[in-house]
Amino acid sequence: MDKIYWGADAGLAAYHRSRFEEFLTAGPEAFEKACRDENGRLKHIVSAEHFSLDLLKTIRDTTNAARRISKMDPDFLKGLLRHKSVLNYFPQPSTRTFLSFSRAESKLGIQREEVRDLKTSSTAKGESDLDALRTQSSFYEGMVVRHPSDLYGHFTVWAMQNSRRPLHIFNAGSGTKEHPTQAILDHYTMEESLGTLDGKTIAFYGDCLRSRVIHSGARLLALHKDVTIYFVAPDSLQIDTETEEYITRRGVTVRKINTGIGELPAFVDVNYMTRLQDEYGAGSQSEKYPADLVFTKDHLRMMSETSILMHPMPKREEIEPCLDYIDDKRIMLWRAQRNGMWTRAGTMAYVFGVDEQIRDKYASLETRITKMMKQRK
Ligand code: MLT
Repeated sequence: MDKIYWGADAGLAAYHRSRFEEFLTAGPEAFEKACRDENGRLKHIVSAEHFSLDLLKTIRDTTNAARRISKMDPDFLKGLLRHKSVLNYFPQPSTRTFLSFSRAESKLGIQREEVRDLKTSSTAKGESDLDALRTQSSFYEGMVVRHPSDLYGHFTVWAMQNSRRPLHIFNAGSGTKEHPTQAILDHYTMEESLGTLDGKTIAFYGDCLRSRVIHSGARLLALHKDVTIYFVAPDSLQIDTETEEYITRRGVTVRKINTGIGELPAFVDVNYMTRLQDEYGAGSQSEKYPADLVFTKDHLRMMSETSILMHPMPKREEIEPCLDYIDDKRIMLWRAQRNGMWTRAGTMAYVFGVDEQIRDKYASLETRITKMMKQRK
């Protein structure tokens, strides 16, 4: 099974793999059910398909409240989840997602540890991914996982079903398929800049086929009304049928363009760049990013005052380097990263059940401040 290590013994590997395959055949509804608790609340954040606009609003309100409280009463936040611990399990490389999860955990007072280099773990002795996961889960209340397998989100939920541990999973990127917390931060960044996303037009440029950021992001956009999405890529990197069908069924107007960026920045609300995901290709460095998909200062000039430019990073040649030296509030590359830390704090607070406390605390601080201001007048 795709990039999951089932152990050294072929017979045992085949046995476990067939049990997992059985779980997969149950389909998306059974999978979603496995990600919710008995009250229907999401207990694992593994797929963008499990979100509703209501939940995104809850996370946004919690994020904003936590952000403001951190300036007024950071110890309140730090006291919330002091008794919880999380493992950040990142066998696949990461800078932003890893650090922003780690900082989010720290803001909420969560105890945290990490495994990043499998050469230092028992995987190097032939331990299967299944045993590794169950072992790790014995010590924590949550695991943030990033893995090159497309199925790793499913795999972790399945593995935890076989255990009694009440552990929460946060998918920090699984293969080419899902990156739900990146989608949450992108959705948040878009809403903070544009207001409602109903009726908006978004252009994804670059590797539409293999970007998990696009796959999860498009699914969240599909929750809105009258959204149009342009997928701008050469035919060999065009959006996969599964994503296209999923979002079309939910009412998104899909446009596939293979002629480069052209004049699109003049009329879309969001320009979203992605790099070539060549780590999933045949021989990495042989792939070349198409010249007509480089976002230039001319494209920036074309953009309306209210539209934005985004990139999940890391960036390479997708954006003309001079844009790094232009101070323009429509360029959201860096602000989005900070949003990532706070939306991850908001998401973790929701999953660990302290989101309401955070929103209530902010409401009471706000009332107190308004009262003080009135008294001063
Ligand atoms: C990812 O993990 O998918 C990143 O955030 C985007 C990328 O690597 O291009």
